[in-house]
This record gives sequence, structure tokens and C-alpha cells, in this order.
Amino acid sequence: MRLRTRLTLWYGGAFFAAGAALITVVYLIVRSHITANLPGPDESIDFLSQARAEIGMTEDQLSAFITTLIERQEAANADTLQAILLGSAVALAVIGVLAVGFGFLMAGRVMRPIDAITATAQRVADRSLHERINLDGPNDELKRLADTFDGMLARLDRAFEGQRRFVANASHELKTPLAINRTLLEVAAAEPDAGHRVRGLAANLLAVNERHERLIDGLLTLAGADRDVADPVPVDLADIVAHVADQFATEAAEAQVAVDVSAAEAVVTGDAALLERLVANLIANGVRHNHPGGTLAVDTATVEGRARLTVRNTGPAVAAYEVDALFQPFRRGEGRDRIESVRGVGLGLSIVESVARVHEAALTAVPNRDGGLHVTVEFA
Ligand SMILES: Nc1ncnc2c1ncn2[C@@H]1O[C@H](COP(=O)(O)OP(=O)(O)OP(=O)(O)O)[C@@H](O)[C@H]1O
Ligand SMILES: [Mg+2]
Repeated sequence: MRLRTRLTLWYGGAFFAAGAALITVVYLIVRSHITANLPGPDESIDFLSQARAEIGMTEDQLSAFITTLIERQEAANADTLQAILLGSAVALAVIGVLAVGFGFLMAGRVMRPIDAITATAQRVADRSLHERINLDGPNDELKRLADTFDGMLARLDRAFEGQRRFVANASHELKTPLAINRTLLEVAAAEPDAGHRVRGLAANLLAVNERHERLIDGLLTLAGADRDVADPVPVDLADIVAHVADQFATEAAEAQVAVDVSAAEAVVTGDAALLERLVANLIANGVRHNHPGGTLAVDTATVEGRARLTVRNTGPAVAAYEVDALFQPFRRGEGRDRIESVRGVGLGLSIVESVARVHEAALTAVPNRDGGLHVTVEFA
């Protein structure tokens, strides 16, 4: 039940209880007073006995008269009490209904800032930490709650932003020396007088260098992928898939993985570069975590108005309970890769998850029974 309704019910209940108590008290006071103020029978008889002597009434007549008088008085009293009771009850009902209506309005007014707080909290939970409640009004409990919440958001925002900026800056700083390293190694290996050992060393170092470049590139993408899509545009996943599959054709052929692409129109509104990264990571995984003679099927389609991408491959067996962990940064399967040199850095699926999240897409990954993964990304 909504808090507003509950408050109204409590308020209404308290009003009716207090009203009923008041009516009871008034009723009891009036009742005790109208009976106490009646002349007692002895007093009446004395008074009327005198009168009887003056107007010549028999004793029986007098006693009948007194009885009638008392009966009438009692009836009148009962009438008065009943009228008070009835009138008060009707008044209580009418005023009570008005009070409950008023209480409902008041509760709504009190709840309005809470609704504002909840709405902002929901928006923040769904999207970005940049929003604030900025509650106007007197410095009361609710304003203090809203301000505390705003302060907390500001701190979180700063922390996240700082972390993102740090990763981005660090990645940029690290990229330059790696690029220089690569050039130096390539030049050294290309020297005509470079010996066999130097070439071998250069090739190894280049491989290490490339791995580091991939790692930093992944970190950079991950740091950027968690932000809102600044400028969403409609992108057809079918185009991306066709393009990416082309890029991986040679690698797939070398790995002896048969790639089967079925790209039907599937338009998504979002960031083209991030979406391409998502598709590329999934296809790279499908090719790299596979075995010779294996297959990779990539599918795009629009199902019930929602764009959907499916990537399914053969490969090493993955336990169902391991799947969630693979989406965490730097998590890799346990050394079952085709060859050691394709061992990735373990950021691919984390990036996929981040990109899916900012596009509000539902991401599911289930292991195939005979190995490999079946990943589905369904866009909203
Ligand atoms: N399609 C797949 N089939 C089987 N296993 C997979 C598949 N995709 C991922 N995995 C497992 O999940 C792990 C994590 O994948 P993820 O893409 O995050 O990292 P990676 O491929 O190892 O490195 P990279 O950052 O270069 O992508 C992989 O190491 C692999 O063991
Ligand atoms: Mg990968």
C-alpha cells in the first residue's frame, strides 16, 4: 500500500477515534447533568401538595399528574440525549470525511519531495550520477535528506569521474612509450646487420609490446564505455557484423574456424564505435577460443521490434557457473586456449558488458553443451 494512503488511513482513524471519544464524553456529561438537575420526587411532592390544597385536587389525581410529569420529563431527556448522539455522529461522519480528504491532500503534499527524491534516485540508478535533486523549500528533515543524498551523489560522481580520468590519462601516457618501443623494435629487426638472435628477441618483444598495447587499448575503451552515449545515431548491426567478419576472415581461416554470418537488418540507436567494438570482441572470442575445424555463427535480426545479435561458437567447455566471472575484467578461462600466443588480456567481455549496459541491452551468455559460448545481445 502506498505511504500516502497509509498516512491518510492513520490520520483518518485517529480523527474518528478522537471524535468518538469526544462524543462519548459530551454525552456522559449531558446525561449526568440533566438527571441531576431534575427536582427530586420529595421536593416535587411537597411543592405540589401545597398547590393541591389551593386548587382542590384529590391525592390520586395529584399522584397521576406527578407520574405523567416525570414520564414526560424522562422522555424529553431521552429525546435530548438521542438527538445529541445522533447529531454528533452525523457531524463526526461529515467532518471526518472532509478531514480524511484534507489528510489525503496533506499527505500528498508531504510526500511530494519524497517522490522527487525517489524519481531522481531512479534516474541516477538507471543512467548517470550527474543529476541532483536540488530540493527547494524549508530546511526540514526532507530537505536535509535530499541534501545528504545530493552530497553523496557528488562524491560518488567525483570518485567515478576521477577514476575514469585516471585510467584514461594513464592509458594515454602508457601508449606513447609503447608506440616508440614498437618502432624501435621494428627498426632494429629490419637492420641489415641484425643477427638471428636480435631478430628473435625483437619478434618476442614485439609480441609482448602488442599485448600491452591491446591491454591499454582495452582499458581505455572500458574507461570510456561506461559513460552515457553522448550522441546516439541509428546504426545497422548487420553492416557492423559484415564489416567485422571481413576483418577476421584471415584469422578465422588460419585457425580453421568456419564462420557463418547471417546478417538481417537490426537497427540500434547508439554509439557506432562502441557497437563495433562489442561485435568485434564477440567475434574475436568466437574465433580465438575455438578449435581447428570448429564453427562460429553470427546472427543479427530484428525480433518483435528489437534488434538482436547472436554469436555462437564451438570451443572449450565452459561451466555454467563460470560464465558470470568471465565478464569481469582480467578474467580468463583456465588455459584451454588454442595456443598460448592468442591468450587475450581478459578485457573483451567486460567491454562487451559495458557497451551493452550503456545501450540498455540485455546480455545473456550460456555455454553450449559441447563447448563454446552462445551469447545474445538484445537491444531495447
Ligand atoms: N566464445 C567463447 N567461447 C569459449 N570461451 C570463451 C568465449 N569467449 C570468452 N571465453 C572465455 O572467457 C574468457 C574471457 O574472455 P574475454 O574476451 O573477456 O577475454 P580474452 O578473450 O581472454 O581477452 P581479450 O581481452 O583479448 O578479449 C576467455 O579467456 C575465454 O576463456
Ligand atoms: Mg576476448
